[in-house]
Amino acid sequence: MSHNLRELVFATNNPHKLSEVQHLLGNSFHLLSLNDINFNDEIPEDYDTLEENALQKAQYIYTITKQNCFADDTGLEVEALNGRPGVYSARYAGESKDPKANVQKLLMELKGVENRKARFRTVVALIIDGKEHLFEGIVDGRIIESERGVDGFGYDPVFLPDGYSSTFAEMNLSQKNAISHRARAIESLVNFLRNS
Ligand code: IMP
Repeated sequence: MSHNLRELVFATNNPHKLSEVQHLLGNSFHLLSLNDINFNDEIPEDYDTLEENALQKAQYIYTITKQNCFADDTGLEVEALNGRPGVYSARYAGESKDPKANVQKLLMELKGVENRKARFRTVVALIIDGKEHLFEGIVDGRIIESERGVDGFGYDPVFLPDGYSSTFAEMNLSQKNAISHRARAIESLVNFLRNS
C-alpha cells in the first residue's frame, strides 16, 4: 500500500530539534514544523511517562490536522536520583524551564555523589493513517562535576557520553547526531518509514 510518507509534521517549534532531525532525515522526507502548518495551540503534556506524553502530543495534532505526524519526548534519567529528572527534565528547577537553573540544580543534587551514571532517553510517537507506533533511543553516559562546552542545549554541558572525552556541548551537531538519544529514536522511525 502506498502512503503519503514524504510529508510529516514534527510536533515542535524548537529550532535546535528541528535542525537535528531534518539533518537525520536528509532529503527523503519533507518535515513540517508546527509553525509551517500554522498550528499555534498549546499542546498538552499531562502524563508522567515519556511514552504517554509523546502519544498525547501526536494524537492531539493528528486529531486536529489529520496530517501524518510525530512527536517526541525526552528525559535525562540519572541513576543515583532514581531516574529523575526524567519526564520532568525541562521544568526540573521550575516552570520557567530555565536550562541553566536545571543544570545547576542537577549538579547540586549530585554534589559528592559517586555514582554519576545517567542516560538520555527519547520516545517518538508516530501516527500515520490513524495508526500509532512508538520508537525509542537511548544514550548512556555520566554527569560530570561542572559544565564544559557551549554547543547544544539543555543538559548538554554536563553530559559525557560513554566512550567519549567530549561532552555533548563540546561536540558539533554531526558528532552529537551520530550517537544521540534523539538520533537513535529518529533512526528507528526512519527505518520504519522506509520499510513500510
Ligand atoms: P524534550 O522532550 O525534547 O522537550 O526534552 C525535555 C528536556 O530534556 C529539555 O528541555 C532538556 O532539558 C532535556 N533535553 C532533551 N534533549 C536534550 C539534549 O539533546 N541535550 C540536553 N538536554 C536535552
